[in-house]
Amino acid sequence: MPPAPNRAFASDNAAGAHPSVIEAVLEANTGHALAYGADDQTAECEQRFNDTFGAPVVTRVCFNGTGANIAGLATAMGALRGPHHAIVCTNWSHIAADETGAPERVLGTKLIELPSPDAKITPTMLDSVAHLQGVQHHVQPGVVSITQPTELGTLYSPDEVSALCARAHDMGMLVHLDGARIANATAALGGDLAALRSFTIDAGVDVMSFGGTKNGALGAEAVIFLRPELAEGSEFVRKQVTQLPSKMRYLSAQLNALLRDDLWIDLGAHSNAMAARLDELVRDIVGVELDGRPQVNSLFPRLRREAIGPLRDWCFFWDWDATVNQVRWMTAWDTTEQDVERFAAGLRSLLTELDSDCRAS
Ligand SMILES: Cc1ncc(COP(=O)(O)O)c(C=O)c1O
Repeated sequence: MPPAPNRAFASDNAAGAHPSVIEAVLEANTGHALAYGADDQTAECEQRFNDTFGAPVVTRVCFNGTGANIAGLATAMGALRGPHHAIVCTNWSHIAADETGAPERVLGTKLIELPSPDAKITPTMLDSVAHLQGVQHHVQPGVVSITQPTELGTLYSPDEVSALCARAHDMGMLVHLDGARIANATAALGGDLAALRSFTIDAGVDVMSFGGTKNGALGAEAVIFLRPELAEGSEFVRKQVTQLPSKMRYLSAQLNALLRDDLWIDLGAHSNAMAARLDELVRDIVGVELDGRPQVNSLFPRLRREAIGPLRDWCFFWDWDATVNQVRWMTAWDTTEQDVERFAAGLRSLLTELDSDCRAS
């Protein structure tokens, strides 16, 4: 086996921070600055998000992705004025599957999980909750939350988001978008600000989270209220849900570094390209089964069972669905061509070895 590319495919959360982000934090580390967002970096960050979306949006900087989801959803639920509203999402959604019940605990809100094979919600799927509306025995569908790209690495087209928003709004619901990997989606759908806007603000999304952490930040996310009137009270809600950073300048500086010259899109494009390259190099290997081409920065191959343990010991990655020998390989902003080539070569040599052992026995 070649030397292992150290944990290069474990997760984009396992990647380090981009040098520009580190530099920006060092630059922000001068003297005293007023706390809780009254600093120059945060003012710059708010302006940068206005420019990014081409409209006066309301930006609330947060510590992490789970917190940004909670802060955005809590404000959106508040805007509907009533604790009897529920959030509609898919069974794959991070808020339902990977946030330890935070929305239920912190918001006191029921999640209605729609089963979805590709982790997407269609307007027709929303019909399945329409019968709840107006009936006093049922929670009222208040917000639909989608993830872009989804937890399965699939993408909504701008038209699909527009159609979903139109249906949700007709039903009196708001639309939340979990954009923990927004850079990967933006890069895949056109790679510029017009692409970002086409599936967010122009499509009718009301509130979203904008992820920095998985894309080169040390740790910084933002809730963006694309319809500013829905942001009323959001500063209080963010504090209540423990997402108000006192030394906000350091988080804002990280986001500024990513937003400057659209570095965030370049980093997303790079990590998508590395996933596409990995797919190209491993797709023909016997013992590796892949469905469609990766749309963003993750692959979900099914592997010959005996290969999983040794391969993971050599270069770590997570299981996805152990019952079908499915694993997840994820690239990041700093994955190199060499990492990809080494990993593919290691995989090929391991599977060839297993194959010849099998023939010999
Ligand atoms: C789609 C999605 N949303 C939100 C999050 C939450 O991010 P954090 O771990 O920073 O809370 C993640 C993290 O993996 C994610 O994949």
